[in-house]
Amino acid sequence: MDSSSFYKDRFSRVAGIVLAAGKGTRMQSETPKVLQTLLDVPMLWYVLSELSRVCQTIYPVLGYMHEQVEAAFPQYKDYFVHQAEQKGTGHAVDCALSEVQKDDFSHILVLNGDTPLITAEVLAEFVDKGLSSGAPVSVLSMEPESAKPYGRIVRFADGGVDRIVEAGDIEDPQVQRIKEVNSGIYLLRLDVAGTLLSSLDADNRQSEYYLTQVVELARKAEHPVRAFNFGNRPDLLGINTVSELCLQEDLLRSRIVHELLDKGVIIRNPGSVSISPFAQIEPGVEICGPARIIGKTHLKKGTLIESNTVIEDCSIRGAAIRSFSHLSGAIVERDCRVGPFARLRPGTFMSSSARVGNFVEIKKSVIGRGSKVNHLSYVGDSELGQEVNIGAGTITCNYDGRNKHKTEIGDKAFVGSNTALVAPVSVGAGSLVGAGSTITRDVPANSLSVARAKQKNLERKK
Ligand code: UD1
Ligand code: CA
Repeated sequence: MDSSSFYKDRFSRVAGIVLAAGKGTRMQSETPKVLQTLLDVPMLWYVLSELSRVCQTIYPVLGYMHEQVEAAFPQYKDYFVHQAEQKGTGHAVDCALSEVQKDDFSHILVLNGDTPLITAEVLAEFVDKGLSSGAPVSVLSMEPESAKPYGRIVRFADGGVDRIVEAGDIEDPQVQRIKEVNSGIYLLRLDVAGTLLSSLDADNRQSEYYLTQVVELARKAEHPVRAFNFGNRPDLLGINTVSELCLQEDLLRSRIVHELLDKGVIIRNPGSVSISPFAQIEPGVEICGPARIIGKTHLKKGTLIESNTVIEDCSIRGAAIRSFSHLSGAIVERDCRVGPFARLRPGTFMSSSARVGNFVEIKKSVIGRGSKVNHLSYVGDSELGQEVNIGAGTITCNYDGRNKHKTEIGDKAFVGSNTALVAPVSVGAGSLVGAGSTITRDVPANSLSVARAKQKNLERKK
């Protein structure tokens, strides 16, 4: 049994609620905040995937541009809760309550959708503490480098929790100096949550129903409240501004790079390498920064990625990708060599030992085993057999202005430099096409084809 199902079994009566209805005004963008990306993946994806290792059921609360967010997470379609008007975090949780109460849950674990570096391990540790304390209200608190934007945890002299004061509502300088702050993660017992949430008021500077007020309300109702201080944890920081987005993205980047280094992937200049959480990279791969590995890329053992490359949704099975190459949606088999300065576009399949050199673009084409397209070419919608040689400057003219057409080139064919292959067209196996030809008709196998004006050498007139 893996650790994730272990958590889920342990916390089967805890429902997750993710607050994701806000616009994120401080981001200065029309995109809903939770769809802002880190390493090309929306912020909310990270929160949901970690939380889903802890809770079997999760209710994301959506509001601002909810259709867009829903479209990005179709697997949650039966669990979205709508908060039509964003009246505050407390109101958001209240919107989810009637859904949660339909099932047999004992607690809700509430967290903000803008904390993407959170891990299941931290959440599980917090839920464990909260459940075993028996307190109906638990808060995960922290002591970040800067407490400034966060709600302060105000404690009594005996350490008991009094209330949370939002940054914007602080009047007392003593509260201003408090280092312990609210992470935005709470565990609430459902038998008291409803009463507490319905007692919230919006009597604060933002005129919002703050979830943080449940602490004070619970304490006043003589329910025990606990705040578990997890200390200085950068992974618990929230994202409210673009600067925080980029800093958290860099932390995440570094976390992924270090995990791969520990696994035995060689990553040179590691501070400049960015790797998607969806990428699968085997030990024995070597990556030289700066490099960006995006999406569901799979790099197999023996692959070398040189610097200044971008690799997106590719499978590279033990090949060398040299500097300044850009690959997207390509499959590159063992012992191939790509670049420097090559571009592989979606639908490219390079069989083993094939080569694509500098200033070559390949699109939706098969390059057969051992074939070479070494310089300055465009190959699109084509099928090349084995050991084909494509001379420098050869272009497949695949587009007639309306439709795309195919080019087929048989095994061991040799296409001379600066040839235009006007598709649909085929060059038979073992054939040779003379340099500078414009080929508009099929070339039979084992033939020599030249299609260019004959050279005339005339006497130069005075
Ligand atoms: C909140 C906490 C603060 C804590 C901080 C931790 C409140 C009032 N404050 O502040 O104590 O230190 O998180 O990061 O809870 N949202 C809704 N509906 C709403 C309003 C917000 O779903 O009506 C969502 C937002 O989309 C966001 C999350 O709730 O994902 C938190 O809201 P945000 O405005 O970022 O709260 P903070 O000011 O960061
Ligand atoms: Ca926030």
